[in-house]
Amino acid sequence: MRSEVFKIESEDQTRRFGERLAALLERGDVVGLRGDLGAGKTFLAGVVARAVGVPEHVPVNSPTFTLINEYYGGRFPLFHLDLYRLGSPSELYDLGLWEYYEGDGVCLVEWCDRFSDLWPDQALVLTIELGEGENRTILATGEGRGARLVEQLAE
Ligand SMILES: Nc1ncnc2c1ncn2[C@@H]1O[C@H](COP(=O)(O)OP(=O)(O)OP(=O)(O)O)[C@@H](O)[C@H]1O
Ligand SMILES: [Mg+2]
Repeated sequence: MRSEVFKIESEDQTRRFGERLAALLERGDVVGLRGDLGAGKTFLAGVVARAVGVPEHVPVNSPTFTLINEYYGGRFPLFHLDLYRLGSPSELYDLGLWEYYEGDGVCLVEWCDRFSDLWPDQALVLTIELGEGENRTILATGEGRGARLVEQLAE
């Protein structure tokens, strides 16, 4: 397990963090986004989407009710999930979540800690802590491929 803390003082720094992450991502990667309401999970997902080439006219917003948004037109398909409203693990299976996690795109998963026993162990997990104003801290953790991403983010 590798972990690293990133201090963020502005939206622009979050944007730069997201752009660096986007440059490191490869097909098959899974990134969990944790943090309270308004922490910036969807903001970060939007930055990553643009940075991998998803066109501006494709809206990036929390798939709170749809559970999954699929974005095409970038370097790889990007799947944006939000597990907040998921009622039970069986819904995960109904959704075919594993096909997304094991597919050839990249998954960004808001509220990934719901049903965490179904969470892939090679994922990168980003926990965003709210501070005053635009201040945030991002805790990045991961094992295997996730740990490699943490290391590269810290370089
Ligand atoms: N440093 C920062 N990084 C990210 N967002 C910031 C920052 N400073 C201010 N913001 C603002 O905080 C808000 C974050 O909202 P966002 O929808 O991304 O949160 P969220 O974590 O997805 O919440 P929810 O759980 O409700 O979906 C945005 O309006 C963004 O402009
Ligand atoms: Mg959100």
